[in-house]
Amino acid sequence: QRHLISAADLSRDDAVLILDTAEEMARVADRPIKKLPTLRGRTVVNLFFEDSTRTRISFEAAEKRLSADVINFTAKGSSLSKGESLKDTAQTLEAMGVDAVVIRHGASGAPYRLATSGWIDAAVVNAGDGTHQHPTQALLDAFTMRRRLVGRDAGLGRDLDGRHITLVGDILHSRVARSNVDLLHTLGAEVTLVAPPTLLPVGVETWPCEVSYDLDATLPKSDAVMLLRVQRERMNAAFFPTEREYARRYGLDGERMARMPDHAIVMHPGPMVRGMEITAEVADSGRCTAVEQVTNGVSIRMAVLYLLLGGNETALTHARTTEE
Ligand code: CP
Repeated sequence: QRHLISAADLSRDDAVLILDTAEEMARVADRPIKKLPTLRGRTVVNLFFEDSTRTRISFEAAEKRLSADVINFTAKGSSLSKGESLKDTAQTLEAMGVDAVVIRHGASGAPYRLATSGWIDAAVVNAGDGTHQHPTQALLDAFTMRRRLVGRDAGLGRDLDGRHITLVGDILHSRVARSNVDLLHTLGAEVTLVAPPTLLPVGVETWPCEVSYDLDATLPKSDAVMLLRVQRERMNAAFFPTEREYARRYGLDGERMARMPDHAIVMHPGPMVRGMEITAEVADSGRCTAVEQVTNGVSIRMAVLYLLLGGNETALTHARTTEE
């Protein structure tokens, strides 16, 4: 069984295949009827133990566009509140004959455990686990960078090589940062992390990227600046700079954005805290791709499910032919 657990598991060829397949899937979204029969008769469960807006809705939209049968499971209202374990939950799903499980969990490693435990014979897709990984987020981010920085028809094998991507904020708690550093490195981009020292993880010097504490010095050489939310729910208050101090040193406002090259974009995985890591002026500007990232997430998740579940090539070819 094939799974998607970590961006670090993807080779350059794997990543390029997913991104190119997502381009095909995006064409489906442009059609009046946004559906492919590819996963008809296959069942996908969305197993969300942690809150989500974008990822949960986007996976559901992707599954429905591929004609899969979709079961949504959220921890709230389930037997988890009665003490049921992940193992028993997985075995319940197995008894229902599911083909894929999309899982978000607060514990780093939960999707890996599900994929390797033998509790369930289904493809496992990590939709975010603790502070560990969020691979489909990194893929949709790379897809967005390719479209905005290079154009949708460029071959990715060349286009992120040497691009400078800056990730700003709470790196310590960010699965988005970890996934992006892994994937962008694989795709040949140069990554710089900018964060207060208290929000950088131990061992960050071994990651394949640079670290800086000076956002203003980093902005002029950035092709994309990705802002990350400060995840207060995962931290001890003592580690946190004050909101004012954070916004002053690491927040992106209009004045700072003006220091970026004209072609450079501002990215945010969401949810955004306006006024802290990003001002409304920047969030609502044409340079901010936050909404586009959500749209692109559907195409990426369609591509991942299509490739993992061995989707029907004929259906995809049909979509391409209809388009042309
Ligand atoms: N980007 C992201 O994972 O957002 P959600 O938590 O809303 O899914």
